[in-house]
Amino acid sequence: YYVDWDASAAEKGGYEYFMLKEIVEQPRAVADTLLGRVAVDGTLTLDEMRLAPQELRQISKIVIIACGTSYHAGLIAKYAIEHWCRIPCEVEVASEFRYRDPILDRQTLVIAISQSGESMDTLMATRYAREQQSRVLAICNVNGSTIPRESDGVLYTHAGPEVGVAATKTFLTQLVACYLVGLYLAQVRGLKFGDEINTIIGQLARMPEQVEKVLSTVEPVRELARSLADAKTVLFLGRHVGYPVAMEGALKLKELAYMHAEAFAAGELKHGPIALIEDGLPVVVVVPSREGRSVLHDKIVSNIQEIRARGARTIVIAEEGDESVRPYSDTLIEIPAVPTLLQPIVATVPLQVFACELALAKGNDVDQPRNLAKSVTVE
Ligand code: G6P
Repeated sequence: YYVDWDASAAEKGGYEYFMLKEIVEQPRAVADTLLGRVAVDGTLTLDEMRLAPQELRQISKIVIIACGTSYHAGLIAKYAIEHWCRIPCEVEVASEFRYRDPILDRQTLVIAISQSGESMDTLMATRYAREQQSRVLAICNVNGSTIPRESDGVLYTHAGPEVGVAATKTFLTQLVACYLVGLYLAQVRGLKFGDEINTIIGQLARMPEQVEKVLSTVEPVRELARSLADAKTVLFLGRHVGYPVAMEGALKLKELAYMHAEAFAAGELKHGPIALIEDGLPVVVVVPSREGRSVLHDKIVSNIQEIRARGARTIVIAEEGDESVRPYSDTLIEIPAVPTLLQPIVATVPLQVFACELALAKGNDVDQPRNLAKSVTVE
């Protein structure tokens, strides 16, 4: 007899694409990655990392290597790690790393971020770092995959399986893992373990509900995306941690919608990219939170005014209640107010939805974008 059911539809949990399901699963993925790692009093337990506090106290430099979306998580991690731990931190795309004679030693902690744990570029960079006697910590979503097996320690993200080629929930959980590593390093090194760190740990624990909140307000983003299906180019601007978020927004659009998209640090606008602004050009701007970094906030508001005066169609992502941007926003997308360093967790979500919806409007398969593979196992 006939049963109207198939395994793949069941796995998609009623969604047409895995990606749509995976975007919605993000609050859960973030919660699972925090689970059991943050005690009520704010103490972090990352024993599974297999790197002794003694070793972590001796680190003099951190180098993060990764590809694609994982690289963007690394760029964001740098801001947090340097601020909380006062350890110099470099970030590099894994494919470039070992070909330039990088300076590594026993006191260097290399963090290899890879969702799949199988990207060949990141694996080769990991091997290279270990040959140079550096300690390697993997941040990975797939248990027992090659990169964690070849590393000294591992911190697993608990996003669950991600089928869509474009990373979504693994990215948010990589951010959580990077924050945990940064906060843990600050903790074991006895640094700045004062109010700021405690506040951040408390706020990190609240991230699942914040992501849930963003998801409940993204409907206008879908409409916006559909209205831009014929655009040729979309530019993205951000500052501070908002810059890598802008890069991630642009990458998602390239991967899924096959559109030209490019991100700039908003402060660089005047050094060239502003020449690209023309009538009707969509520009997505990630506005820094107002907390603590009001100078940057005000500077980006001026940038929005400048590009709008030159005809750009401004799509502004700003924290709720930020009325200063409203007069210059053709579309205003509000996200919850969270500490600056954690803002990427909430600011990325509307960009994922934007790229996904725009790609769907063009009739693209968002789970299997053309020419891409979930993990690239060749160099
Ligand atoms: C591929 C995927 C990207 C991904 C990158 C890194 O290129 O298309 O979406 O970000 O690999 O993957 P990894 O598994 O190392 O995080």
